[in-house]
Amino acid sequence: MRTDTFVTARVPIPQLEDCVLSIADHFTEAFHAEHREVRDLLLALIDAFKSGDSAQVRKLVETLSEAIGPHFRYEEEAVYPGLLPIFGRQHVDKLLSDHDDTIRGIRELAELAELVMLNDLEEIGEDQAAWGIELVREILPHVSDCDGLSIMVETLPEDDVVHILATRDAARETNADLLTWARTMRARHV
Ligand SMILES: [Fe+2]
Repeated sequence: MRTDTFVTARVPIPQLEDCVLSIADHFTEAFHAEHREVRDLLLALIDAFKSGDSAQVRKLVETLSEAIGPHFRYEEEAVYPGLLPIFGRQHVDKLLSDHDDTIRGIRELAELAELVMLNDLEEIGEDQAAWGIELVREILPHVSDCDGLSIMVETLPEDDVVHILATRDAARETNADLLTWARTMRARHV
């Protein structure tokens, strides 16, 4: 099939001199980078379950909780409230409920990793590995779903995006892992 029509209809590629990052671009870059990190950790966790490597599973679950904690925190404290006028309450509640699911999933993965450690298993059993992979696959779609929020954030007033980035900085400074934040700081309990 010829694609000339599509090619000529494309938006021109920005030239180097146009590439000064706006505050929204800065947010989007940081947001993408965080989702990529979590995506890669989740995919590595699937591999670790497949190979039955219990030490790697434990390490990855811990790293995931550390990576997701500050991310969820600033999403809930600044991104979601900022998007409320666009999405409305119902969808923001759905986003929060997706976070609830992820927190439960990471908690179950941490329990699974601990169980393996308590039983001093160097290799994870087939059933445990299958359960672990299922838990990871339940979390994965949130990463790609969430990444799309940046297309809405870029429509917000600059002050709102500045507030989001400042809240992100504060969350990263406190640096509470996901399970600690969910247990001790998050208003919503799961
Ligand atoms: Fe996210």
